Amino acid sequence: MSQYGDYQHEIYFEGLFGVQPGLPMAFAELERRAEAALPPSLWSYVAGGAGDESTQEANVRAFRQWGLVPRMMVGAAQRDLSVELFGLTLPSPLFMAPVGVIGLCAQDGHGDLATARAAARTGVPMIASTLGVDPLEAVAAESGGTPGFFQLYTPTDRALAESLVHRAEAAGFRGIVVTLDTWITGWRPRDLATANFPQLRGHALANYTSDPVFRARLAKSPEDDPRAAVLEWAGVFGKPLVWEDLAWLRALTDLPIVLKGICHPEDVRRARDGGVDGVYCSNHGGRQANGGLPALDALPGVVEAADGLPVLFDSGVRTGADVVKALALGATAVGVGRPYAYGLALGGTDGVVHVLRSLLAEADLIMAVDGYPTLDALRAEGALRAVRV
Ligand SMILES: Cc1cc2nc3c(=O)[nH]c(=O)nc-3n(C[C@H](O)[C@H](O)[C@H](O)COP(=O)(O)O)c2cc1C
Repeated sequence: MSQYGDYQHEIYFEGLFGVQPGLPMAFAELERRAEAALPPSLWSYVAGGAGDESTQEANVRAFRQWGLVPRMMVGAAQRDLSVELFGLTLPSPLFMAPVGVIGLCAQDGHGDLATARAAARTGVPMIASTLGVDPLEAVAAESGGTPGFFQLYTPTDRALAESLVHRAEAAGFRGIVVTLDTWITGWRPRDLATANFPQLRGHALANYTSDPVFRARLAKSPEDDPRAAVLEWAGVFGKPLVWEDLAWLRALTDLPIVLKGICHPEDVRRARDGGVDGVYCSNHGGRQANGGLPALDALPGVVEAADGLPVLFDSGVRTGADVVKALALGATAVGVGRPYAYGLALGGTDGVVHVLRSLLAEADLIMAVDGYPTLDALRAEGALRAVRV
């Protein structure tokens, strides 16, 4: 049976024929080369975060506060990284977090489609952002047999929200991820310094301009008057949701609903009471509110309050070791944002596939070396628990 760790055999064997990997093997180099590959304003938008970016940095540093305890004589020759999520069996616990403007990160400007193709090749699900360069139907069509999820930025117009959700259902997405922390944009000095906000420049709005409800709000079509379409988008984009809205959201669809941006146990309980299917612990990669705790520090409390409800996690995951640690702390599935955006910038679909395979290979090999053959073993109490170092 093939294992994710086998990726290293491919690389070493190719080395026997003089072939070295064309794509970076370590995150620092991935980041450095992505910076060189992307236009400066797009690089700043993707790499940057809120305020002085200390929360963003803390997200990454938080992983270093934990260490796994190796167990010997376990014989973990086969590892099983598969997870059950919303009735689906996924081959691994890794997923691609929603990244609006991912479309722009590809050299051909169609990164949503390239990412969906990487999902198809790896079995790693993509959560497609509302903010796509290509419409959600086109993204779903490129995902092959890999289940995908649609991330909803809930507009102020309920009819538009309903239309987006029903389109996602019809396109075959397997769940709706409702992002709660971005109805307003956080203070982002890097973007402010260049007065650059991609959506206001008309980018990544295809899900709106292709939507019949959105189009009906416009006097002229977005093709005839793109500026008016952007202004309309700015007016309708973000509804500050309150708990009373949850019943409406729940009634919109039979698909699983996941709330993204949940970090407080009390919010987990309210989400559970409102009938959601999962919670997503994240601080948006530190892009929204600076001065916050690292998302990883919120994870154990969220997992405890979730009481068996699936917990998705992202923010600061850069290595396979980070994936393993988040799983050991109780995450059901672990997402990456910037790492796959950088892979896309460097190598299109191949670049994303490389980043995902590298993360999974490292995670798998850690589980092999440290004697944790299953995710349950990793999550078990006592000797198999992650410890503070
Ligand atoms: C450029 C960029 C755009 C993003 N756009 C969205 C989005 O459209 N919807 C959303 O829910 N989260 C969005 N996020 C947040 C990611 O889903 C995720 O929470 C974050 O990137 C995880 O942190 P990481 O980048 O440290 O892995 C975005 C992140 C980045 C870097």
